[in-house]
Formats: sequence, structure tokens, C-alpha cells
Amino acid sequence: MGEIQAVILAAGEGKRMHSTLPKVLHPLCGRPLLRYILDSAVAVAGEPVIVIGRGAALVRETIGAGWSYAVQEKQLGTGHALMQALPHLPEEGLLLVLCGDTPLLEREDLEQLIRDHGDSAATVMTAVPPDPTGYGRVIRDPGGAVLRIVEESDATSAEVEVAEINSGSYCFDLKVLREFLPLLSPENVQQEYYLPEILSLMREQGHRIGASCLGRWQVALGINDRCQLAEAAAIMRGRINCSLMRQGVTMIDPASTYIDFDVRIGAETVLLPQTLIEGNTVIGSGCRIGPGVQIMNAQIGDGVVIRQAVVAGSILENGAAIGPFANIRPGCRIGPGVKIGDFVEVKNSTIGAESKLPHHSYAGDVDIESGVNLGAGVIVVNFDGRKKHRSLIRRGAFIGCNSNLVSPLEIGEGAFVAAGSTVTGDVPAGALAIARTDQKNCAGLGKRLLEKGLQQDKKGRAEKEEKA
Ligand code: UD1
Ligand code: CA
Repeated sequence: MGEIQAVILAAGEGKRMHSTLPKVLHPLCGRPLLRYILDSAVAVAGEPVIVIGRGAALVRETIGAGWSYAVQEKQLGTGHALMQALPHLPEEGLLLVLCGDTPLLEREDLEQLIRDHGDSAATVMTAVPPDPTGYGRVIRDPGGAVLRIVEESDATSAEVEVAEINSGSYCFDLKVLREFLPLLSPENVQQEYYLPEILSLMREQGHRIGASCLGRWQVALGINDRCQLAEAAAIMRGRINCSLMRQGVTMIDPASTYIDFDVRIGAETVLLPQTLIEGNTVIGSGCRIGPGVQIMNAQIGDGVVIRQAVVAGSILENGAAIGPFANIRPGCRIGPGVKIGDFVEVKNSTIGAESKLPHHSYAGDVDIESGVNLGAGVIVVNFDGRKKHRSLIRRGAFIGCNSNLVSPLEIGEGAFVAAGSTVTGDVPAGALAIARTDQKNCAGLGKRLLEKGLQQDKKGRAEKEEKA
């Protein structure tokens, strides 16, 4: 499409978000808002100029230093923002002007705008949403030619009734734009330099201005507040889910499946309801995930099963089975075929192939080799109140139920820890460790205690009845 330039306006205050975070950095399906329109712009134009202002340093840091930025020191309106970008742009050519807060516009929409622009001086992208509240309205003459755009705050009651809105995206002839941009004035209710005002200025001087009306109004959605953010997120989720399903992922209930933009999932994986997959998580094929699972920044192999669990910042190898009700915290590598069962927490640990932690355990800062079995309730005691310590459990060891392994220590290959032990030192390979008080049996005492209890109960009941 020839040499097309783009500017993205992203300096605004974002007042309606009521947030310390700049509006364009608010996350939408795991990425900052601004990233979406940036991607679409890059797909059709040369390297865009991003106008930043509010939270400029943070925006630059989050989006990356590799882009071309213009700084708008004071937020004096969209027209003023575009003025700041002019020194970064060539003298002439086509210019797309886009807003940082319209994340749903895709490449095809921008291509449509450029096609409809032809050789006009300016073309505004418009849409007809069911509720135009908050947007600038497109005022046309009886013949349908665009006369001007009026902001809602400046509109008459008749103008407010107009259904067609300004999407905030435009295509300009740069040479004409350079001539008219200095003519904008802040004489309006908001005392800002309104960019849309340039259309009527151009028209009055005989330039051709046009409108390119979107078929799907939803993609024009501008995010000014958190209701609109949620609305856009729902649409974006729909797109992400559809695309994954078309690649072979099954979703039992797409409406309750929340997947971030950068997540990758292999074919034949099944996602059950109430599942959140976040960050840059990668999931293999043939997995079964959910219901009730939250996964953040994890790498998951093939054939992994995860039910009612949280998995964060960890690697799960092929065929691992997690949950129900398990918590895999950051820094874990869970080997192939490992079973992590109910109410088990694992943190910063490696678990070797086919090892089992089936019930009620805590494994923190421990390296467990392959074929190890941790009985119910085993706790790796990694914290002494001041420092964290690390332990090692060698191949094939068996740790009996309700044992405490006080780190740092090493359990040798094939060693056996008796149930209920509190182990405070190394156990050699093949050894049996028992660390608990010996059992004592007192003949007949059990029966006597039970009978005494029964008699007391009987006496209590009789006294109550007497009183009543
Ligand atoms: C703007 C349009 C409105 C249109 C709507 C579409 C104007 C005056 N109004 O209104 O006609 O229907 O977008 O969503 O243009 N920005 C700056 N610097 C500023 C002000 C804004 O960079 O001084 C940026 C913002 O970061 C934002 C974009 O420009 O990304 C739009 O600004 P915003 O304040 O959201 O304008 P709207 O009120 O939505
Ligand atoms: Ca807006």
C-alpha cells in the first residue's frame, strides 16, 4: 500500500479510569491496551510514532524503547497531541492517526480506511453503535456529505440524537494536515485542541473529506472507563477463544474460559469451565485442564491433567497430573508422569519422573528424584524462622505419612522414613529412619477409660432429667 505513516495518540489523562496507571497500560487479556493498536498499525504502516504524556516514562518502559516516541508535555487535546508528532513525520504522504484506547481495530479495518480514503484530504473512520453516548457525532448534510464532527459536550440536543460516531481513527494527506493543524483552536467546552475540528476547517477551504463507516461497530469501541474495558475484554476473549478452537482446542464453555492473548495451546487439549490461562503460558496437546484452574506463565507439556488448581511460573512435563486442589508455586519443574494430588503445595522444587505426592503435603525448596513416594501429610520443613533451606530426596525413597523432613537434609536412594517421623538429619541409602516416640500398650486401660466415660454420661443425663 505504498509508504504510509502512522501516529498513535496515547498521552491522554485517562481521568475516567480513576487509576494511577496510565490508561493505555491497563491490561486487556494480559497485554497493555496500547499493544493492540500498535500491532494493527505496524501491519499496515511504517514504524508508528507514539505520542505519550501521562505516565510517559512508564509507557516507554512497558512498550519498549525500540519505538519512536513524541512527548506531549501538557494534555491539551487530541489535536495538540498530533502536533507533537509532526516533527517525527515526513513532509508528505498518507498518515493514519489512531488512538491508543481503541484496541479492537484490526489490520483489515485500517486497510478499509485507507482504501476508502482514496485521494481525499482527510477521512474519518465512523461507526453506528447501538449507544453513541460519549463519542463525537458525525454531522452530515442532507446529501450525506460529512460536514463536521461535534463532541458530545458541545453538541445540541438534536446533534446528540445522531447515531453515527467518530471512531477516533483518521487517514490524512500529510501535506494538507501540516497546513491545517496549526489552525485548530481550543474554543470549546473542554478548552482543548480537538483533532476532529480539522475536518470542517479543511472542508471550508474546499478540500475533500470523507467518512469510512465500519460494518462491525464493535471494533470502534474506545476505552474511557472500566465498563468499556470489560466490554472490550469480552470481545477480545471471544476472538482468542475462537482462534484457539479453530486450531483444535476444545472448550466446554467458552464463556467461562479466560485466556490471555499470548497464550499458546496445542490441538486436542480440552479446557473445562472456569479456567484462566494467563501471561505467556504454553500448553501442549492432549491436555485436560479445568474445571476451576488458574495457570500463569507456565510451560506445560502434552497429556497433562490439571483439575481445580493454581499453577504459576513452573514447568510441567508430559503426563503430569495435578489436583484437585493443588497449588504449584513459581520455580517448580514437575517431571513426566508425576502425580500431585489434593491439598498439596509445591514451591521452588523439582520432582522427578513418576514420583507421587498424592495428598496433603508441602514440598518447598526440595529436589525430589524419580520414583519417590510422599505419603499423606508429609511436610518438607524448609524455613527455620530466619532462613530457607534446601533438601534432596533420592530415587525410589519412601516417606511415610505425616512425616516432617527438617531441611537441610538428604534422604538416600531407596531409603524408608517411617510414618510420623520428624527427621532432622540425613538418611543413608536403603536405611529405615524412625524418629518418633515408641509405642506403649497398657493392658486393660483402654476399656476402663471407655467405661468410665459411659458412666459419667449416664449420670449427667439422669441429673438433667431430675431438674427438668
Ligand atoms: C475522542 C474524539 C471523539 C471520538 C472518540 C473515539 C476528540 C476531541 N474526540 O474522544 O470524537 O468519538 O475519541 O474514541 O478527539 N490523547 C492524547 N492527548 C490529549 C488527549 C487525548 O494523546 O491531550 C489521546 C488519548 O490518550 C486517547 C486518544 O487521544 O488515546 C483519545 O482521547 P480521549 O480523551 O479518550 O478522547 P475521547 O473523549 O474518547
Ligand atoms: Ca477515548
